[in-house]
Amino acid sequence: MLVAPSVLSADFGNLQHDIEMLNKSNCDWLHLDVMDGVFVPNISFGFPVMKAIAKHARKPLDVHLMIVEPEKFVKEVKDLGAKVMNVHYEACTHLHRVVQQIKNEGMMAGVTLNPSSPVSLLEEIIPDLDLVMLMSVNPGFGGQKFIEGSVDKTRRLKEMILRRNSNALIEIDGGVNRETGKRLADAGADILVSGNFIFKAEQPEAEIDYLKHL
Ligand code: DX5
Ligand code: ZN
Repeated sequence: MLVAPSVLSADFGNLQHDIEMLNKSNCDWLHLDVMDGVFVPNISFGFPVMKAIAKHARKPLDVHLMIVEPEKFVKEVKDLGAKVMNVHYEACTHLHRVVQQIKNEGMMAGVTLNPSSPVSLLEEIIPDLDLVMLMSVNPGFGGQKFIEGSVDKTRRLKEMILRRNSNALIEIDGGVNRETGKRLADAGADILVSGNFIFKAEQPEAEIDYLKHL
């Protein structure tokens, strides 16, 4: 299991401290949530903050763009040195083009689905994807309650990936903890994003290890 702590739940006043903690931990990627106040009802941080994070991070960056017109920022995300660029299906009119642009820049192309978007929407594009991320909460905020249907949705996505001979990894974002993480692992998840559960824990590094061994 790969674990991607969501920096959205870090202490923004002590960001360097929290990044150093993640550097020392066994986490795999740093998950960065960009919100524009249009695609989602919240605003988080943008490129200046991500550049500061990138300067200190010694783990690959997984950038989750909760913004309209994400295709405008492929080059900027690449220049950050990101490993993964995740765009929302719901934000892309020409999804195939965006995916090719991301891959042409040498990044892993990830497509994210909102809770109400069925996995069948990806039937045509799935062989082209490096990663599919399922939102298991409505995007916009950390610390929300896990949407139960996400476990079965993960199972159905796994089936589609196998049937279509795709190499796409399955990443799950929202409400991941020990209990939901276990069920998601059993359903076929490859990567778990976790914000509140990790950062509010007394021993964040131990919780990262727990999720890693699911
Ligand atoms: C939600 C973000 C998530 C969020 C996860 O819009 O995409 O990455 O930070 O946080 P938790 O794990 O607290 O639900
Ligand atoms: Zn996210």
